Amino acid sequence: MKITVAGTGYVGLVTGVSLAEIGHQVICFDINEQKVKELQAGRSPIYEPGLEEMLCSNMNGKRIYFTSNAEYAYKEADLIIIAVGTPENDDGSANLSYVRLVAEDIAKYSRQEEIIIVTKSTVPVGTNEKVKKWVDEESSKRFKKIHIVSNPEFLREGSALYDTFNGDRIVVGTDCKEVAMKMDELYGPLNIPIIHTDIESSEMIKYASNAFLATKISFINEIANICEKVGANIDDVSRGIGMDQRIGPKFLQAGVGYGGSCFPKDTKALVQLAGDVHHRFHLLEAVINVNNNQPLLLIQKAREIVGTFEHKKVAILGIAFKPNTDDIRESASLVLIKELINEGAIITVYDPIATYLAKQVLGENVLYSSSIDDAINDADITFIATEWKQVVNYPLNKYVSLMKDPIIIDGRNCYPLASIRKENITYVSVGRETLYREDKIVIK
Ligand code: UDX
Repeated sequence: MKITVAGTGYVGLVTGVSLAEIGHQVICFDINEQKVKELQAGRSPIYEPGLEEMLCSNMNGKRIYFTSNAEYAYKEADLIIIAVGTPENDDGSANLSYVRLVAEDIAKYSRQEEIIIVTKSTVPVGTNEKVKKWVDEESSKRFKKIHIVSNPEFLREGSALYDTFNGDRIVVGTDCKEVAMKMDELYGPLNIPIIHTDIESSEMIKYASNAFLATKISFINEIANICEKVGANIDDVSRGIGMDQRIGPKFLQAGVGYGGSCFPKDTKALVQLAGDVHHRFHLLEAVINVNNNQPLLLIQKAREIVGTFEHKKVAILGIAFKPNTDDIRESASLVLIKELINEGAIITVYDPIATYLAKQVLGENVLYSSSIDDAINDADITFIATEWKQVVNYPLNKYVSLMKDPIIIDGRNCYPLASIRKENITYVSVGRETLYREDKIVIK
């Protein structure tokens, strides 16, 4: 099979490289010429552990090519995987203009009579049928057969390759048996269970999965918020409920809230999708509200300790929405920073790899540090927004020696309370007791 992957973002690039790795011949297409040039030179435009190495080895093995020439990409392809972005419209719905562009290019350039179009982009239920209609119309019904497949992606940034090769399942939604068998062939070498469904169910599985995981996070965050008030400890509560196999231990880490390119966008899109069919998704609306409020609660707790942020020197550790990625999209850290700037704080940020992207968003509104030492030096207060290993392993006594006043507001529960108790630190975390330094002054 001649495979073309449309879009070299996270999903497209990881998919293309992984398919080449398991022996397929792949062309990756992107409209962004600069990005394609980078890729042709063997450089990954995204930070993802192991990706650049795998990319280069498959380029050397001549199994993967990159192009911004749509004709070259689609002319002879038997199977086209759509992996372009579906950003958020103002009303929260998914913007399908990039998907439509691919459909138009397929119609224009494909010389095949029969074609399989696989959608990996996260798209609302019904989009695959739209893709078929767009290709059919734009090509003046030239194709003998256009097969459509919904094949959502479940990889996480930062562990995308691991997830691709060790996924729990592959979901394939199609209404054609032969095409289902071709998809089995495509993914066979991965040795991952494949579940076959109709197209609509497959589209729904993606949204439902992300919405459920987001719900788990907002749920545990709400439990954490109550724990603080009743004197319970969220670490123990998460462990205690997670050991029930019906609940499971994952995604029960309380904190400053979820971010990234998927959960915030996909939860809103599902609320919108439900609204379109006249169903109000109350539960998911609450999940989103809880998440929006979570960073503000952290700021409120800090305010109770320092009184005001006006002219206070505040260090922010972590800008990426989670560790092992340089992605700062919808990061809770940015919410904290924006709010603290509004309240007059002087902010210094530290992130091991995302600083260059933060500069594009935050510009000169904050100062940038290349080390934790520099960021917290002489600070009145430190917020932890991302649980980078550099932060988790940072010696606690340095907060005491470097900060003006060692006050840590830990949005990721990086440190055990027992370790903090050994130091003279004021420490606020999520769902756990607040610890005050011995000579504390609390301004309410
Ligand atoms: C997510 C899904 O996991 C993945 O299946 C889907 O394909 C894309 O969206 P990703 O956004 O890369 O992946 O990151 P993930 O590891 O799921 O974390 C998302 C956010 O939730 C992060 O901000 C993380 O800090 C937060 N999170 C996660 C918590 O706050 N607590 C948890 O217990 C788990």
